[in-house]
Amino acid sequence: MRTVLVTGGAGFIGSNFVRMVLQEHRDIRVVNLDKLTYAGNLENLADCRNHPNHIFVKGDICDAPMVSEIVNKYQIDAIINFAAESHVDRSLVEPGVFIETNIYGTLTLLKIALEKKMERFVQISTDEVYGSLGPDGKFTEMTPLSPNSPYSASKAAADMLVRAFGHSWGLRYNITRCSNNYGPYQFPEKMIPLMINNALNDKPLPVYGDGLHVRDWLYVYDHCTAVWDVFIKAQPGTIYNIGGNNEKHNLDVVRLILSHLGKPESLITYVKDRPGHDRRYAIDSSKIMSDLNWKPSLQFEEGISKTIQWYLDHKDWLNHIVSGQYQEYYKTMYSNR
Ligand code: NAD
Ligand code: TYD
Repeated sequence: MRTVLVTGGAGFIGSNFVRMVLQEHRDIRVVNLDKLTYAGNLENLADCRNHPNHIFVKGDICDAPMVSEIVNKYQIDAIINFAAESHVDRSLVEPGVFIETNIYGTLTLLKIALEKKMERFVQISTDEVYGSLGPDGKFTEMTPLSPNSPYSASKAAADMLVRAFGHSWGLRYNITRCSNNYGPYQFPEKMIPLMINNALNDKPLPVYGDGLHVRDWLYVYDHCTAVWDVFIKAQPGTIYNIGGNNEKHNLDVVRLILSHLGKPESLITYVKDRPGHDRRYAIDSSKIMSDLNWKPSLQFEEGISKTIQWYLDHKDWLNHIVSGQYQEYYKTMYSNR
């Protein structure tokens, strides 16, 4: 049985990935290392906590002695690094922790993967490293990196370190760069769950700027299958873009959420734009589709219905998150906007 260290496995995408692996790949043991920051939540994995192939360890990817210890103890064969500070707006307020986790944390994992001669290191990156697009064109794997926020700058730096470890010492790595994810267990600081939560509570839906920014949405399960395919099938040293070919204006997404929930469009409130807000992201996924035979299973309309239904069915999960600390966060970010 192969043992994979999945970092950040209690977050949004990481928990969906851990669940998928446990359910669909029974010959894999997952050691899930997560610091349980505000974004990490063991309730995301309540149904798999006692799975025989799942070991959860609370810890920080920057803590080299601890990571070495668990790598030795569980005889880790490969690392898939989801752990990160992931929210652009927070990075504009407090960038330091993004440098710490996203760059230094990745470096810590890279050193250990190299020292232990691991079979693979998969870095979960983002399309945001490419910067922003005009009205036409898509990001390919050859697009130069041009990150615009402290978040995307820290992710781009990590990508460069991963590449350098491959180039200099032969680390067998892959990098995936995915577009915006949505689906179950997403923390309601990100647009889709934030808008769902506000709509459910008849609170204003804060649309940044003119609402005509474009994101290319992918259902989280489809991101997970793409990462798996890269881990299992990709040549070392390759980079893959992952996207859903579902470009939408933010305003259209917000309107769709309101219409699904039977709430009025008068809840939409235009607020001050995010500084440096990237106008448009769009991903060309043809490389992963042709090399690895991956394709997304859901289009946006189906995925968003499933997602809204999931939040309706998991109001306890949502209410638990938005009580306490989240209220402070919301007040700081939105009250004078
Ligand atoms: P998330 O914020 O929901 O989860 C991040 C997880 O990492 C949390 O469980 C948190 O506790 C953990 N973590 C943070 N710092 C840590 C540390 N120092 N040590 C160990 N664990 C730590 O993020 P997400 O949306 O699930 O994103 C996961 C990864 O996917 C990130 O690397 C992100 O850059 C990338 N990504 C996200 C999206 C998206 O739309 N959300 C799109 C493309 C790529
Ligand atoms: P977000 O979910 O934060 O992802 P990212 O910035 O990484 O793409 O935001 C998605 C889009 O929604 C982005 O254009 C910013 C916008 N947005 C709002 O208009 N209002 C909000 O309250 C949030 C959180 C985001």
